[in-house]
Amino acid sequence: FAFTPANQAWAEAQVKKYPEGRQASAIIPLLWRAQEQEGWLSRPAIEHVSDMLGMAYIRGLEVASFYFMFQLKPVGSVANIQICGTTSCMICGAEDLVSVCREKIADKPHTLSEDGKFSWEEVECLGACANAPMAQIGKDYYEDLTTERLAEIIDELAAGKVPTPGPQNGRWASEPASGLS
Ligand code: FES
Repeated sequence: FAFTPANQAWAEAQVKKYPEGRQASAIIPLLWRAQEQEGWLSRPAIEHVSDMLGMAYIRGLEVASFYFMFQLKPVGSVANIQICGTTSCMICGAEDLVSVCREKIADKPHTLSEDGKFSWEEVECLGACANAPMAQIGKDYYEDLTTERLAEIIDELAAGKVPTPGPQNGRWASEPASGLS
């Protein structure tokens, strides 16, 4: 693994922001940039970042494996579907959404679909509980999901389209309820 020249320069600039002896504090932004570059964090990528910060690989891996935002296995080239499985979403049908992913992508999480385009995983609360059940795809939230709509979204992504994010039943939580202003 090597950062692109631009990313390497950016990473070195981040490291310089921290006082001498505290360079390890830059680990999260550097791991994040490595993941943005490669799509996931391979062992060589974590080793590279750890080396830059004077840390042992195992220390870098400890950080990378703590946060579910870091991917330690390859993700789908088109999308990694993150289904929220915490209480509100679980009550409102997260397990059914997981079943859609099992059928359309792969039986197990963190596994590539046969064409390599998709992967999926279950994640903890994403803070959109009022619009449960929901999923994060890339940087977008897809809320008020049904099994049918999730299946459509996966099909749209496979066809190269960009599904409209936000609540999928037409409501927007930021709008005042009827009669209120
Ligand atoms: Fe799913 Fe909070 S429980 S977003």
